[in-house]
Amino acid sequence: MADSLRDVLLRRIALSGPLTVADYMAEALGHPHFGYYATRDPFGAAGDFVTAPEVSQMFGELLGLWCAVVWQAMGRPNPVHWVELGPGRGTLMADAMRASRKVREFAEAAHIHLVETSPVLRRVQADTLVKASPSHPPLWHADLSGIPDGPMILIANEFLDALPILQFERTAAGWCERLVTAGPRGDGLIFALSPPSRRPPPLLSPAVIDAPIGAIAEVSPAAVGVIDAIGRRLAGVGGAALIIDYGHPQSAPGDTLQAVRGHAYHDPLADPGQADLTAHVDFGAVTRAAIEAGAKPFGPIGQGLFLERLGLGARADALIAGATPAQAESVCAARHRLTAAGEMGTLFKAVSLQNPDLPPPPGFT
Ligand SMILES: C[S@@+](CC[C@H](N)C(=O)[O-])C[C@H]1O[C@@H](n2cnc3c(N)ncnc32)[C@H](O)[C@@H]1O
Repeated sequence: MADSLRDVLLRRIALSGPLTVADYMAEALGHPHFGYYATRDPFGAAGDFVTAPEVSQMFGELLGLWCAVVWQAMGRPNPVHWVELGPGRGTLMADAMRASRKVREFAEAAHIHLVETSPVLRRVQADTLVKASPSHPPLWHADLSGIPDGPMILIANEFLDALPILQFERTAAGWCERLVTAGPRGDGLIFALSPPSRRPPPLLSPAVIDAPIGAIAEVSPAAVGVIDAIGRRLAGVGGAALIIDYGHPQSAPGDTLQAVRGHAYHDPLADPGQADLTAHVDFGAVTRAAIEAGAKPFGPIGQGLFLERLGLGARADALIAGATPAQAESVCAARHRLTAAGEMGTLFKAVSLQNPDLPPPPGFT
């Protein structure tokens, strides 16, 4: 057996040629033996990065109440499938479930479904959620197709950024695809370009087709496929989705592929499987795909504005009222981290996709 994912990929390139960036990302994150998510719990100060639910319980609590209010607007269906994509440690869903008990009928009607491919993180999620609510154990799925028919409320935080992207460079001779291949000594990975094509790549936004020479354009067929599946289901069977992630509000050229290891940026090709690999979400492509699937999008709006509209200030005040000075300081620091423009407040954005018959969801108007 190979010693590392780099060896596996070099062998694959030797046998069948360069990889697309999407193939490379899929292997680096999901390879069953060496993939980043397949082999570790990467969250927290001792890991590689911190996500909003790990910053503060307030994030998951507000999202849980958002779901309960949307469920009321849906006509209180029972049962309702409450789905989370990419649940990480299960922290968001545990906080959301706890807060949602304020609307007892929703908490009772909700069947919890977690879409997760990592066996390591499924075990962490089971520990968190079965402890938090032994009477309401979740079901796990590898993708959305396993969720039973019926109305659905779906949440996803920092899920779409982990889905593979394709990259293209505009050259004087046409569009070239960016590929990953073996370096000159055969022991490392480098980027290379495919021969040019006069036809623009499929899925490329009209706003990007005329990008200047040298520009990089990105598309994510995987993300568009997930949004299409969500949108069709919301339009057909009913429900709403709330998606939060970092990215740009409209399609635009730019190289956003990035690797993070130990809370610092890392060379994306240096250690496949050892660093988190992500790309900014193109919210323009998300809303276009949702509309094509028959769903109605709201947003994107900045995470900071969204959370403040949902009542982050009031929740922070309630927590501070019963807190020690040190705890109060950490609640204030968390609120700042989640909402400030230089932190997660504007780069991170919220978008809701809904059945077109539903009223506008909380936080978007
Ligand atoms: C950046 S983490 C976000 C975790 C969590 N939502 C949070 O906010 O803390 C990405 C999550 O998506 C999962 N994931 C990545 N790619 C996936 C895929 N193709 N299908 C299902 N889950 C995936 C990872 O295992 C992880 O749980």
